[in-house]
Amino acid sequence: TQDIAYQAETAVLAQAAVASNHTGFTGTGFVDYVNTTGGYVEWMVNVPEAARTTLTLRYANGTTANRPLDISVNGTVVAAGQAFNPTTNWDTWADLAITASLNEGTNTVRATATGTAGGPNLDKLTV
Ligand code: GCU
Ligand code: CA
Repeated sequence: TQDIAYQAETAVLAQAAVASNHTGFTGTGFVDYVNTTGGYVEWMVNVPEAARTTLTLRYANGTTANRPLDISVNGTVVAAGQAFNPTTNWDTWADLAITASLNEGTNTVRATATGTAGGPNLDKLTV
């Protein structure tokens, strides 16, 4: 099936805010996590049938340090402390892909900052 992009700026946010003060994002902006642990971006993802699939997160990290995220699907962590390594600057975006199983119908995909610096900037999730 064809990939669908789910923008970060239309997801449910906690300790994170929509921003557009850097270039290269898709849609109308991106999400900027507060610099603390526990902030998250949560998407609702609908698939026609249960499948193991690729979840691709487009992100920017203009620092020199990893900004790890726990990726969970339907409340279960499927990629703990997933590294989101530096991308040179905040205008440079990279794709990070993981594999996870989705249920038929509605799923939640949540990306939670685990480091004290918070998460990277997130542009979108592609499924
Ligand atoms: C800068 C940058 C933000 C980023 C933040 C951070 O303020 O402009 O886009 O989110 O650094 O370190 O998290
Ligand atoms: Ca931030």
